[in-house]
Amino acid sequence: MNLLTSIAMFGFCMLFQLLVVNGAPAPNGAPKRIPSTTKTSTTSSKTSSTLAKSSTTTSKSSTVTLKSSSTVASSTTKVSSTQSSSATYPTPTVPIGAGGGPFATVEGRMFQIQSKTQFFAGTNAWWLGQLQNNTDVFNVFADLALSQLKVARVWAFSETNDAATASGVYYQVLNSSGQYFNFDSNTGIPRLDYVVSTAEAKGVKLVLPLANHWGDLGGIPAYTTAFGGNSTSWYTDAQSQAAYKNYINLIVNRYKSSAGIFAWELCNEPRCSGCSTSVITNWAADISAYIKSLDSQHMVALGDEGWMTPPVGDGSYAYSGYEGVDFVKNLAIPTLDYGTFHLYPDSWGYNDTWGNEWIVQHDAAGEAAGKPVVFEEYGSTNTTNHSAICEPWQQTTLLNTSVAYDSFWQFATTLSIDPFDDYAIYYNTTASSDYEVLAYQHAAAMLAKAPTATQ
Ligand SMILES: *[C@@H]1O[C@H](CO)[C@@H](O)[C@H](O)[C@H]1NC(C)=O
Ligand SMILES: *[C@@H]1O[C@H](CO)[C@@H](O)[C@H](O)[C@H]1NC(C)=O
Ligand SMILES: *[C@@H]1O[C@H](CO)[C@@H](O)[C@H](O)[C@H]1NC(C)=O
Ligand SMILES: *[C@@H]1O[C@H](CO)[C@@H](O)[C@H](O)[C@H]1NC(C)=O
Ligand SMILES: *[C@@H]1O[C@H](CO)[C@@H](O)[C@H](O)[C@H]1NC(C)=O
Ligand SMILES: *[C@@H]1O[C@H](CO)[C@@H](O)[C@H](O)[C@H]1NC(C)=O
Ligand SMILES: *[C@@H]1O[C@H](CO)[C@@H](O)[C@H](O)[C@H]1NC(C)=O
Ligand SMILES: *[C@@H]1O[C@H](CO)[C@@H](O)[C@H](O)[C@H]1NC(C)=O
Repeated sequence: MNLLTSIAMFGFCMLFQLLVVNGAPAPNGAPKRIPSTTKTSTTSSKTSSTLAKSSTTTSKSSTVTLKSSSTVASSTTKVSSTQSSSATYPTPTVPIGAGGGPFATVEGRMFQIQSKTQFFAGTNAWWLGQLQNNTDVFNVFADLALSQLKVARVWAFSETNDAATASGVYYQVLNSSGQYFNFDSNTGIPRLDYVVSTAEAKGVKLVLPLANHWGDLGGIPAYTTAFGGNSTSWYTDAQSQAAYKNYINLIVNRYKSSAGIFAWELCNEPRCSGCSTSVITNWAADISAYIKSLDSQHMVALGDEGWMTPPVGDGSYAYSGYEGVDFVKNLAIPTLDYGTFHLYPDSWGYNDTWGNEWIVQHDAAGEAAGKPVVFEEYGSTNTTNHSAICEPWQQTTLLNTSVAYDSFWQFATTLSIDPFDDYAIYYNTTASSDYEVLAYQHAAAMLAKAPTATQ
């Protein structure tokens, strides 16, 4: 904003770079999330097969331990470059759009969900659409429902550049000859069908991001590997954007009748590092309007980390706009129904106490815009006691703000595979367990909170 702020920010970046040098050095002095694998691979055997949450370097096939791939050629459908919304694809073989009550909607700064305007809690379970075992999926939804967690955020993207070497589940192949959707019942989009169908049946709703900034499950790197460009040009690259819109067209049309969908999200943690924030704002306005043109009934959100710009904050990394995101400006986009923000102080170079400020600042931005804001990811890699770090943030959310809901990263339980990381909060009914405190007790407290008057 001014010279002093820039100098302060520059100083901060230098300091931050020193803090992260044990991982991959950040290029150009850019602050960067520490890949979780760096930390977890040396700590416990449980994490050796986990997929790092947002590592920029992790490749899908080497880190997710899933069943080996089966042949998919016969159920992979090539997408023409001029795909229209009337294109026909194999239809779901499980019920979708049959249950789950009314659609969730915005109600002032809150949401109406299950016919009530209420505060509530949710969680993240990115891996649900990667599971190949229906019993696992069903059990997870049963646990979520029992815990009163109303919303689960699940990756609705999964792309690979090469079907022959892909392991486990992928929804599309992107390569130099084009874009192919995978409808194989064991390894393709039908795995996501089952998640949507089960969510409806159990009365839990889904937030479905349609792309990933990070390389986990393919993401933007899978697009740029196939079509050229890089992580910053992707937002304006004609070929990548056409393929991304084709994919959105497929998924949104497939599930738009489902009350199991809480909201569509454009991308998990979109960043355009070093770019003008107008790049992502323009892209978010375009894509959110596109989704609304396909499905006017469901809510749409960005899925970003909530980076802010001056005059909010002290000009340090999270407030510098460095990642190309302006939370306040994006919240003004009419086709985005609510704002999202994440919190990982131990990856961003902040202390845990600062997290409380971050929560209050986003609530204030939501209040100013008259829109709900969602604290949709937070966690700590300190496995000693997650509650000690995360419970204060939940208390701030509960007592100091009108944040509509929050969802911890991430839900974990015993499955026939292990997709978990050090952030995992294991399903557990023991009185002092992290799950009891951060899931059961917090969900109950959010539901008991009196609705605020709608603006
Ligand atoms: C599917 O998951 C259930 C519950 O976790 C487990 O009992 C069963 O063995 C799994 N089936 C296979 C084929 O892995
Ligand atoms: C791209 O992927 C499709 C589907 O797996 C495959 O049929 C095609 O041969 C691949 N093209 C190239 C150039 O590898
Ligand atoms: C992406 O490419 C553009 C132009 O081709 C370049 O200006 C930009 O610096 C590149 N971004 C990254 C992250 O490499
Ligand atoms: C935590 O960080 C905030 C601002 O980032 C600072 O004001 C505060 O003093 C720090 N607290 C501790 C205990 O270091
Ligand atoms: C939350 O509210 C309490 C009580 O009013 C206050 O002491 C505390 O500073 C507030 N926390 C934040 C982060 O604003
Ligand atoms: C993790 O949390 C425990 C207790 O909650 C604390 O004693 C320990 O210092 C923390 N470790 C790190 C690396 O922050
Ligand atoms: C975790 O920390 C909280 C708050 O400091 C404490 O009340 C709880 O007993 C701790 N849990 C365990 C399992 O140590
Ligand atoms: C539940 O948490 C307690 C306390 O942290 C731990 O001792 C116990 O092993 C956990 N139980 C399960 C089933 O994970």
